[in-house]
Amino acid sequence: MAGHTKYVPQSAPAKWLEARLPVISLIRGSFVDFPTPKNLNYWWTFGGIAFFVLVVQIVTGIVLVMHYTPHVDMAFASVEHIMRDVNYGWLIRYLHANGASMFFIAVYIHIFRGMYYGSYKAPREISWILGVIIFLLMMATAFMGYVLPWGQMSLWGATVITNLFSAIPVVGEGIVTWLWGGFSVGNPTLNRFFSLHYLLPFVIVGVVLLHIWAFHTTGNNNPVGVDPKSDKDTIPFHPYYTMKDLLAIVVFMIFFSWFVFYLPNYMGHADNYIEGNPLVTPAHIVPEWYFLPFYAILRAVPDKLGGVVLMFGAIAVLFFLPWLDTSKVRSATFRPLFKIFFWLFGIYCVALGYLGAMPAEGIYVILSRIFTTLYFLHFLVVLPLLGFIEKPDKVPESINDAVLADHGKPSAA
Ligand code: HEM
Repeated sequence: MAGHTKYVPQSAPAKWLEARLPVISLIRGSFVDFPTPKNLNYWWTFGGIAFFVLVVQIVTGIVLVMHYTPHVDMAFASVEHIMRDVNYGWLIRYLHANGASMFFIAVYIHIFRGMYYGSYKAPREISWILGVIIFLLMMATAFMGYVLPWGQMSLWGATVITNLFSAIPVVGEGIVTWLWGGFSVGNPTLNRFFSLHYLLPFVIVGVVLLHIWAFHTTGNNNPVGVDPKSDKDTIPFHPYYTMKDLLAIVVFMIFFSWFVFYLPNYMGHADNYIEGNPLVTPAHIVPEWYFLPFYAILRAVPDKLGGVVLMFGAIAVLFFLPWLDTSKVRSATFRPLFKIFFWLFGIYCVALGYLGAMPAEGIYVILSRIFTTLYFLHFLVVLPLLGFIEKPDKVPESINDAVLADHGKPSAA
């Protein structure tokens, strides 16, 4: 599918370039003429939105670095300097800090879209797996970025998370010392986190390009989950989806701006406006909201190593999703039972998110254990079994049939 382009170079320079580096036909084949299912809804705009936020993060990040100092004695002050003295520094910083949350909002919606419409199923397994790798890279990048302002939450968040590795038998303690570059979270830690925080977004860009290449090879999935069979089922990417994506990006920017201009610290923690102090532990060490479900799973297990294994397991299980879901039908639209379990799964994730923000005691721990169990049951028991017990609704013959059935056949036809 990819690369099918109507592009024929006309001018002499265009012909010259095409014969040597066919970059114009590559771009036209991928983002202009690319045949795209004609029924994509707005949930399909979140990949484009995520890409837009990734670019915002890279651009604002590069400007922040021009005024930031990665040293434990100066990092906190340099961030305050950006906020107070640098022209529009507050704007650049608030865009970057809130941009991290926006990135996770877009990507979480993108992942749940994929889960609902079965975008992870054959032949799109590689797109999905690359997506999970992107998700892991995003988590690492966001975690290290949060350490850079060197506030109390930066320092203690880094301490708690790096300490998790000490749960690994025999080599754990050695690994932690190696991660820190010393015997506690200190200047070498801040410096290596800064270095990697700058590097990883570019690695993410590389993996995103592979991700796009993969689903351009298989073609996009769509809300009915039936592959295009004829030209009637697809439309060119431009202008239809370029404009749809653009509209969605503009609406998303309004939402993003609302936080940047009216609630810039809503998603942050007040303690991070206190300079990091190794001698004072904050009352509650909580990660950013996007890590909370995983944090709840970590604390649900009484044993440290067990908690770490389950927390990583909660992400690792996503790699196997294409094979855990045994149903032949892709889209939840035609899967009455799956639909119910999908929404239940959404509730488990929100519940775990809430529990991750609560103190690890009493009823909260019990609930965390229940929802952690449900989370894993969904992947390891419900999805494999559903394929055998569920009776799917009738799936349309083609995308075109589904669109006409939805909107009524033209009366003259
Ligand atoms: C930086 C983060 C990401 C970017 C920029 C990105 C970008 C995109 C874009 C532009 C699309 C096509 C439009 C759309 O379906 O929305 C797409 C499709 C897809 N993405 Fe992502 N993605 C990201 C992360 C992820 C993650 C974390 C996952 C899953 C864990 C994922 C899974 C998928 C799948 C399965 C498709 C194919 C959907 C289809 O064919 O309709 N992506 N991605």
